[in-house]
Amino acid sequence: MQWAEAFETTGETPSGGPGGAPCSTKPDEPAADAMVQPALESLNEPLLRRLLRELGEEASAHRFEVAPNPCVGAAVLSRGEVVAKGVHRFWGGPHAEREALAAAEASGVPREDWDTLVVTLEPCCSTGKTGPCVEAILDAGIGEVVVGELDPDPRHRGKGLELLREAGVNVHLLPGAAALAEVSPHFLVWNLPDRYRRPRPWTIAKWAQTRTGQLSPPEDVGGGRWITSSASLNEVQVLRGRVDAILTGVGTVLEDDPRLTVRVPGDLSRAPRRVVMDSMLRTPPTARLFDAPGDGEAAGPVTILTLAGMDAPRARALREAGAEIVGLHTGEHGRVALRDVHTWMWEAGIRRVLLESGPTLLQRHFDAEFVDQLRVYTGAVNGGRGPSMAEALRGVTWHGRLDREQGEDAVLEAFTN
Ligand SMILES: NC(=O)c1ccc[n+]([C@@H]2O[C@H](COP(=O)([O-])OP(=O)(O)OC[C@H]3O[C@@H](n4cnc5c(N)ncnc54)[C@H](OP(=O)(O)O)[C@@H]3O)[C@@H](O)[C@H]2O)c1
Repeated sequence: MQWAEAFETTGETPSGGPGGAPCSTKPDEPAADAMVQPALESLNEPLLRRLLRELGEEASAHRFEVAPNPCVGAAVLSRGEVVAKGVHRFWGGPHAEREALAAAEASGVPREDWDTLVVTLEPCCSTGKTGPCVEAILDAGIGEVVVGELDPDPRHRGKGLELLREAGVNVHLLPGAAALAEVSPHFLVWNLPDRYRRPRPWTIAKWAQTRTGQLSPPEDVGGGRWITSSASLNEVQVLRGRVDAILTGVGTVLEDDPRLTVRVPGDLSRAPRRVVMDSMLRTPPTARLFDAPGDGEAAGPVTILTLAGMDAPRARALREAGAEIVGLHTGEHGRVALRDVHTWMWEAGIRRVLLESGPTLLQRHFDAEFVDQLRVYTGAVNGGRGPSMAEALRGVTWHGRLDREQGEDAVLEAFTN
């Protein structure tokens, strides 16, 4: 597609684009939306809207990998032509603006010819897992920035654009073309007032089930444990390398004695914390969770969440085995309180957690509406043991659903809430 008509320019590089203005975070009052410059008459708005729509569609293909971050797409333009595009591909990975700038660098088009950056969502101005995008845009000397949506986070809304404008960049807001409600509805959920009032990590419930929705196969299939193909198991390793923690219950520890480590092809540089909900400290100190990691394996620290004041000798033995023991309040049925578990995880800096438990904790999470995202593998196995997850999913509403295949398995991904 030609974007030359997007600007009624004479072909000259727009003014502005000084590098290096400090991307200081300002006091916490939100910048007024009115600060945003209206679209200039020189912009060919319909064409830019089309580009924003395309970028939004490309970005939302990565929704399950980036959540709870927003899906964002960006493009670098030179005299109305797209030089390069970029999207945010996975949680913790580079933001779309940086991807687009890196692709522009690789394109061979000289940097001084890049005049405009089009991005579906306001560039960030604070340092998260990557540096602020505002800084990258200023460093690149871009003079015009076209943005599809303001950041819905009240702490950041309008600030990225304000910093760009203060540094002399012309900023244009074209709302509607890449509406967050279409491109990234999950990000609106993440920004609901209740998530600020009572923060908890983004929770991805992942399980493998038989055709009848059971989490354990018949005794004589897959060693009584394995349901899915190796292709699916490899995918899970990648997912484990992209979360802050893996959460499970003592039922799974006692039955399966899992490692919950990251193995190749997962990212071994990021071993998520392994968190076990275990009200009575039934986890054996000899559990494989405590084994030293082998080659090609990365093991995060083990935390056992139990009831406050639980059996001191057992706690000591587990500490000696390598566990951190945390005592929490008693909740329903005399067990560790689920809300406390999620509050504790949040306070420990966990933002994205993978729930890899048995049916008991999965059901508890659905009942409490603490599941944000699903990844369900259905293997080519008939029958099975235990309750069917079909029941747990009955009342759940989901959106953004994707059905795909992996090896011999059917995979369902969706957002809930
Ligand atoms: N296919 C799969 O993807 C998959 C994945 C994992 C496990 N599994 C299978 O699931 C089976 C184990 O199932 P499960 O349901 O016993 O395991 P689970 O859900 O992992 O663990 C359940 C245990 O968590 C503890 N717990 C702590 N706080 C709780 C709370 N607030 N609410 C509920 N439970 C709480 C309870 O023990 P306390 O009362 O002692 O605290 C409870 O018995 C095994 O056969 C395993 O193979 C399958």
